[in-house]
Amino acid sequence: AIERTLSIIKPDAVAKNVIGQIYARFEAAGLKVVAARMAHLSRQEAEQFYAVHKERPFFKDLVDFMVSGPVMIQVLEGENAILKNRELMGATDPKKAEAGTIRADFADSIDANAVHGSDGPDTAKAEVAFFFAGMNVFAR
Ligand code: CMP
Repeated sequence: AIERTLSIIKPDAVAKNVIGQIYARFEAAGLKVVAARMAHLSRQEAEQFYAVHKERPFFKDLVDFMVSGPVMIQVLEGENAILKNRELMGATDPKKAEAGTIRADFADSIDANAVHGSDGPDTAKAEVAFFFAGMNVFAR
């Protein structure tokens, strides 16, 4: 089915100037960017976005990292977009990510891991709604 998923290019990858290289991978895999905006998240936004992780030991480091610089946030649309994007990203820990994945090629650590992608249909819906009002998503 055609799905939408929320993707974030994290501060490490934005700082490395590889937004375009990452977008090229989405496009080559048949995923369309149907909404996008750059933002420097506030601590409150980052804490709210990652609220499911707030009891995890890595929560503070995760939030510190996500507010350390601008991020590029996009909605990707396409056949099986949620899983397809997760395959393109590779494992959360770049040391475990398969060769040729975004994290294997651009990430440095489990925190500075280049990209975020929704992990399922329910989170995709909630995460898209968190960053984009419906009117800012462009079907084509
Ligand atoms: P992301 O997909 O953005 O979702 C939560 C983030 O927490 C994850 O990517 C990692 O960057 C970060 N993180 C740090 N440590 C861990 C861990 N042990 N397990 C999962 N995620 C972690």
